[in-house]
Amino acid sequence: MLNVLRKPIISGLALALLLPVGMSTASAATTTEKPSISALTAPQLDQRYKDSFTIGAAVEPSQLEGKDAIMLKRHYNSIVAENVMKPINIQPEEGKFNFKEADKIVKFAKENNMDIRFHALIWHSQVPDWFFLDEEGNEMVNETDPGRREENKKLLLERVEKHVETIVERYKDDVKSWDVVNEVIDDGGGLRNSAWYQITGTDFIKVAFKTAKKHGGEDVKLYINDYNTEVEPKRTDLYNLVKDLLDQGVPIDGVGHQSHIQLGWPTLQQTEDSINLFASLGLDNQITELDVSLYGWPPKPAYATYSDIPADVFEAQAERYDALFKLYERLDDKISNVTLWGITDNHTWLDDRAKQYNDGVGKDAPFVFDPDYKVKPAYWAIIDHK
Ligand code: GLA
Repeated sequence: MLNVLRKPIISGLALALLLPVGMSTASAATTTEKPSISALTAPQLDQRYKDSFTIGAAVEPSQLEGKDAIMLKRHYNSIVAENVMKPINIQPEEGKFNFKEADKIVKFAKENNMDIRFHALIWHSQVPDWFFLDEEGNEMVNETDPGRREENKKLLLERVEKHVETIVERYKDDVKSWDVVNEVIDDGGGLRNSAWYQITGTDFIKVAFKTAKKHGGEDVKLYINDYNTEVEPKRTDLYNLVKDLLDQGVPIDGVGHQSHIQLGWPTLQQTEDSINLFASLGLDNQITELDVSLYGWPPKPAYATYSDIPADVFEAQAERYDALFKLYERLDDKISNVTLWGITDNHTWLDDRAKQYNDGVGKDAPFVFDPDYKVKPAYWAIIDHK
């Protein structure tokens, strides 16, 4: 639980002044008239939860100015790069590190007293091919000779060490929470059969965590991050892996629950059970990529535009946010950060996903702020649900 007060709090009086005449702060969440006021001046989300956890947003460097920057400063006290800290962006060619875009996010966060999550040191996606090529340029996964397989494994683990060491050394004083590995569990059960796994077994995970701790020191918090951590078989597979690694002395501090979820899935009970399960291992939990899609799976049919989305869908989303944040708050001794995978509904990867399944048509709206920087019913639901 983080208690550090780093931004001005909006006073009860100021909050009352921001609300329409006749609406008290106590009734803000329960009124059926949830005014669509400007999010640029609305009561601060991060301050609402300052006694429980930090509130984060995923960003591209282009969002560090204009209205998005105002939103970040106002409502969020934690930040994560949506893309620019992934392996393909940071080390596109062996030994050629590119920190330009990542540095912009770190600078913005420091200037505005925000925590930074690093996402992600090691991932099977958005990773350059060179990691998995042997000295002669052949794909390591195709190697059959046992001796050469051993050499390849050694080479890949050295590359993991170099990648992690270089990045952690650069940002260790600025970044507190690190997604060390992302999505290592397979949806169908067991470990994901990625190139990392085919070449090194689980050693890439161990080396990544140990290297991060060695260079980051005791203060850095190291996370294993994944999606669908609430549901089986993934939850148990992740638990077994984490337990096994902890027993071997691998320095894991917490589990990142991506939480790309839907209006009715997963259940609150599954969410609570998962957080409690990992907390029972003595680990922290962070909600690392929260978005509440309006669609099921696959996302069909999708609304063509934002204005096509019916009011009752936004109400259902508000109820979902209300229940979720009540749960997070109740479990706040086990959750140190809740990060949304975007700032407002004007920029979300879910639009691409909806379009992919609906012949290029589709708008999703997973956050609590609308595309025009106004608050949504979901905002009122979580700003004061007591
Ligand atoms: C996963 C990754 C994120 C992001 C989303 C989709 O959840 O962890 O970095 O790529 O997919 O945007």
